Amino acid sequence: MAPTPRESRPPVEPYKVKVVESIRLPSIEEREAALRRSGYNLFQLRSDEVYIDLLTDSGTSAMSDRQWAGLMVGDESYAGSRNFTHFEETVRGITGFPHVIPAHQGRAAENLLFSLLARPGTTIPNNMHFDTTKAHIERNGAKAVNLAIDEAYDLASLHPFKGNVDVPRLRRLLTEATPGEVPVVMVTLTNNTGGGQPVSLANLTEVREVCRAAGVPLYFDMCRWAENAFFIREREPAFASTSIREIGRTMFDLAEGATMSAKKDGLVNIGGFVATRDGALAARLKEQLILFEGFPTYGGLARRDLEAASIGLQEACELDYLTHRVGQVRYLAALLEAEGIPFVHPPGGHGIYLDVRRFLPNLPAVDLPGQALVVELYREGAVRTVEVGAVMFGDDASDGHAPLELVRLAIPRRVYSSAHLAYVADVVRRVWERRSSITGVRMVEAPERLRHFLARFAPLAAASGPVAGAPAS
Ligand code: F0G
Repeated sequence: MAPTPRESRPPVEPYKVKVVESIRLPSIEEREAALRRSGYNLFQLRSDEVYIDLLTDSGTSAMSDRQWAGLMVGDESYAGSRNFTHFEETVRGITGFPHVIPAHQGRAAENLLFSLLARPGTTIPNNMHFDTTKAHIERNGAKAVNLAIDEAYDLASLHPFKGNVDVPRLRRLLTEATPGEVPVVMVTLTNNTGGGQPVSLANLTEVREVCRAAGVPLYFDMCRWAENAFFIREREPAFASTSIREIGRTMFDLAEGATMSAKKDGLVNIGGFVATRDGALAARLKEQLILFEGFPTYGGLARRDLEAASIGLQEACELDYLTHRVGQVRYLAALLEAEGIPFVHPPGGHGIYLDVRRFLPNLPAVDLPGQALVVELYREGAVRTVEVGAVMFGDDASDGHAPLELVRLAIPRRVYSSAHLAYVADVVRRVWERRSSITGVRMVEAPERLRHFLARFAPLAAASGPVAGAPAS
């Protein structure tokens, strides 16, 4: 589908700039040196070695003047801080969940919840588990199962809700499970691992019915719930004129609770929570919280950060903000589409996911083509992206293959201009044009869990460019 002229026009920012942070394009020699030093793992780069940082949309948002002002009214009391009261009211207001347990980020919330619910012999389904979610479930001895619909794996499918759960498979899993075997069903909004794809309200409603019939609580991973609600508004006709908050409430009414990394749709640099309707579980979560995070009115955070999160959580519900946010993703998509560059369609809420198998069809999975591509994007223009493929998830399969082989260009919120995105599109195009000469990488060092953060790689051959001095395979 060729982009319309309207789609390829950059969206107008619903804000103006008050503070700037300089960035600089490192020279090619500096980039080559940085690649060698980092073991070809972009997580190991220093930020001043990066020009445009699309590694993640998490904790990288620009805060508003109102949020910065919020930092100044931080009440740093250990117990009973008024910033916690504001945070609790905000989360209750958005979700309707009465019990709000703050945590310093999403995986801390996951640790709290799964250390209570996940046990050896239990199974926790999700549309697709994010890497930290899966790791926390497995750390507690349980099995993490992905149940997204088949279209989630068909990168060209234009299904409007590719984050949807495969309801018949969920029903089968719950019917065949022994009592207590499935302690909770999770749904991730939006499905980050599958391309930032949304879940429809129709699907959530069916999932909830299946869970209710089986007596299993439904929890959301609500990291990007506002982006999910934006897509519901756009693609489910019944909600075309419903506010994001109201759509959110309709979503949350279906669930028993949620975990959230406020570093995404909370527009803050740190923060998260677990929220639930279950008072008994909340009491146990608070005990865990005191052990691992801190007192229940700060949860491992400075109270000023809770204030910034309260304001950010509300700003993320604004339609102008979301229209621009998703508009930026679509703008980059339109520029790439015009060059015939393959990526996951339709573009999701927080970034573009390049389709690595079509970008580098000659590289077999063992040559880690996704990692090779992130290295080349950095080498070409100091653009930092992340592999979501064999390196991140291939340790699941005996043959090292991951179901999806993607490179994510995550767009931080309110940070980059359209000119930055046009630069990124140009870098991707230049790598695309020399794709036939790109060779793979191999992993030379890897920790047991979450290996993509710390692994080291070596290029397979010097043919991929001027990598003088790089370790040979
Ligand atoms: N769940 C989802 C869907 C996520 O995308 C993330 C983080 C987490 C949980 C964990 O939250 O980072 O605050 O501990 N995603 C980031 C990313 C890291 O780059 O997609 P966290």
